[in-house]
Amino acid sequence: MRGKKLLVWVVAMMLIVAIPATLTGCSSGGTTTGGGGTTATKIKIALLLPETKTARYETQDRPLFEAKVKALDPNIEILYSNANQDATEQQAQADAALTNGATVLVLDPVDSASAASIVAKAKAKNVPVISYDRLILNADVDYYVSFDNEQVGKLQGQALLDKLTADGNAGKTIVMINGSPTDNNATLFKAGAHSVLDGKVKIGAEYDTPDWSPDKAQTEMDQAITKLGKDGFVGVYCANDGTCGGAIAAMKGAGIDPKTRPSTGQDAELAGIQRVLLGEQYMTIYKAIKAEADATAELAVALAKGEGVPSSMTLSKVNNGNKDVDSVLLKPVAVTKDTIKTTVVADGFWTVEQILSTPELVAAGKAVGLQ
Ligand code: BGC
Repeated sequence: MRGKKLLVWVVAMMLIVAIPATLTGCSSGGTTTGGGGTTATKIKIALLLPETKTARYETQDRPLFEAKVKALDPNIEILYSNANQDATEQQAQADAALTNGATVLVLDPVDSASAASIVAKAKAKNVPVISYDRLILNADVDYYVSFDNEQVGKLQGQALLDKLTADGNAGKTIVMINGSPTDNNATLFKAGAHSVLDGKVKIGAEYDTPDWSPDKAQTEMDQAITKLGKDGFVGVYCANDGTCGGAIAAMKGAGIDPKTRPSTGQDAELAGIQRVLLGEQYMTIYKAIKAEADATAELAVALAKGEGVPSSMTLSKVNNGNKDVDSVLLKPVAVTKDTIKTTVVADGFWTVEQILSTPELVAAGKAVGLQ
């Protein structure tokens, strides 16, 4: 009888000791021993974003991710850093996050290849890594959350081709301004666009834009205009809105009306949407960054707590050269002037008030039922 009671007591004590450990879950989010005993430390999730010249990161990705993590667990601390297009800086920021006790790394790499060494360091500390938006190549990443990026390029290429065909310009010369050669997404956008455009148009000049910099895209477009002549091209493929803004500035600088040269973009950033509405940029791609940030936050919090993948999440596999990575891939949507209302506005990405910020935009909005 006495023996049985002792056993029950021992089991009960084991449970009491075990519960805080399971609740705090992961190694580095675990417990520390202070002077008076054991106290729970905060779980920390690192969010490492690549640059600031493209509007999305500071205006969408960061606040949306932070808000979702906070909603899921207000006690989790986020260690945020932005690498300003510098891969070496990102390595240092990742090192700092690991030293400061990050439990999970959410990493949008400046350089999809060299970021593999960040993953190796994280894994050596048992810290899982989510590859955010851009795929980290040849590395043991745990999850990848992004969009179907080859499809982004296909949608851009198809929209441009359809417009050139409608204008009677199929088969003529275009300029291609791609993204950063160190970004795996840029490789996918480019491949998608080429799969549609090759053989259907002539590519008179093509550039990969270091760091995705809009100013460098402007210089590339200047060079293309010099090479082909002002009337030597009928349209411009740009991989995102930032680079398209640069290309349009170059056209304007050379006295070319951008309305006469259909161009593409991506991100549906406010300046891009406004150019589309004014007819200066032909199209953009809307990617629901909220869905991307929310899914990533859910995964990161689950990993930090040692819980399984949320059952609502559908995972597919994407090979990164090292393994088939469990991935969440969202659907990109093409946007032209006529579909601003049914896409970005309907989804609450931008309000009508935000878009129609000048009398000229109000007038252009009215023409497409945006008011
Ligand atoms: C992202 C784009 C972004 C670009 C430049 C890509 O990896 O998917 O949304 O415009 O990087 O930062």
